[in-house]
Amino acid sequence: MEGPQQRRVGVLLSHVTGSSQQSSQLGVLSENVASSPQLLLKGKVAIITGSGQGLGAAAAKLFAQQGARLMVTDLDAAKADQVAAEIRSQGGEAISLAGDVTAEDFPARCVKATVDAFGTIDILINNAGFTWDGMIHKITPKQWDAMLAVHCTAPFRLIQAAAPVMRDAAKKELDERGEATQRCIINVSSTSGTHGNAGQANYSTAKAGVVGLTKTVAREWGAFNIRCNAIAYGFIATRLTADKGSSTISVGGQQVKLGIPGGEAMASAAAEMLIPLKRIGTPEEAAGAMLLLASPYASFISGQTLEVTGGAYI
Ligand SMILES: NC(=O)c1ccc[n+]([C@@H]2O[C@H](COP(=O)([O-])OP(=O)(O)OC[C@H]3O[C@@H](n4cnc5c(N)ncnc54)[C@H](O)[C@@H]3O)[C@@H](O)[C@H]2O)c1
Repeated sequence: MEGPQQRRVGVLLSHVTGSSQQSSQLGVLSENVASSPQLLLKGKVAIITGSGQGLGAAAAKLFAQQGARLMVTDLDAAKADQVAAEIRSQGGEAISLAGDVTAEDFPARCVKATVDAFGTIDILINNAGFTWDGMIHKITPKQWDAMLAVHCTAPFRLIQAAAPVMRDAAKKELDERGEATQRCIINVSSTSGTHGNAGQANYSTAKAGVVGLTKTVAREWGAFNIRCNAIAYGFIATRLTADKGSSTISVGGQQVKLGIPGGEAMASAAAEMLIPLKRIGTPEEAAGAMLLLASPYASFISGQTLEVTGGAYI
């Protein structure tokens, strides 16, 4: 007779193989995995915040290629629409939603739009964010609050808003069939959060905060088969590592300059000295780490902060 443990293995491997048929035969299914690779996220519904460009856009496209149905949401409506349209033009499924993750009504709007379109939420990635750098003695209250709002409060509120379709849905599944679908949350942190960074007291505090949130969600929702991990990225080539002021973001009507002094030339020089792989990462490589943690192969990984740095800080 099939026990709960064997049933769980069957469910897990059915995700990996894309087959709805469950089996308790680990060996047989392992063979299927090896002989017929399937889409890693087939049918999964994923929300990725800040997916109009950069890491989030790369992740949305990669997840769609792996069979996920995407909610592409961003402050920048045109960019979110463009990413979703590109996914659809390549045969994938995606919708877009414009919005500021820090807005009071955003979490409920985002969850509702996703559930209206796709029926559920399996994967939630809190990726939206930006930097607003300054030395400690110069950081304004607004600069400080903006970082905590976008990197800590917004992820917390979105996770809370998703609770009915993630936590409560899993609880119902457990009550009814003794096992819950694999679901996961990924919060995007930074090596500034895990190691600190001069000029980023506000950003590094917020990015450390999201690690605490991650571990707490992992502890509270683990019993519902919901994993929660953080990814602390090092240098990834996006507008946040481009030359300072080459792009801006509007925060409460104020234009905040993004980027770092010296831009990618400075980042590449730093990479030569500090990064074992001797280069900065690409958004596609950053997205790969998200896929790794969202995939069924990560089914026993929770509460971790994965540093994706090309080997820096080891
Ligand atoms: N690029 C790096 O080197 C690096 C390193 C560590 C961590 N990160 C983190 O990765 C995440 C993505 O950054 P990126 O490098 O792709 O930057 P990016 O600027 O290329 O993309 C971020 C996206 O988030 C959106 N966004 C920002 N604030 C928002 C808000 N309040 N509401 C909705 N959308 C908002 C922006 O419009 C943008 O499209 C951020 O959380 C960032 O802090 C980036």
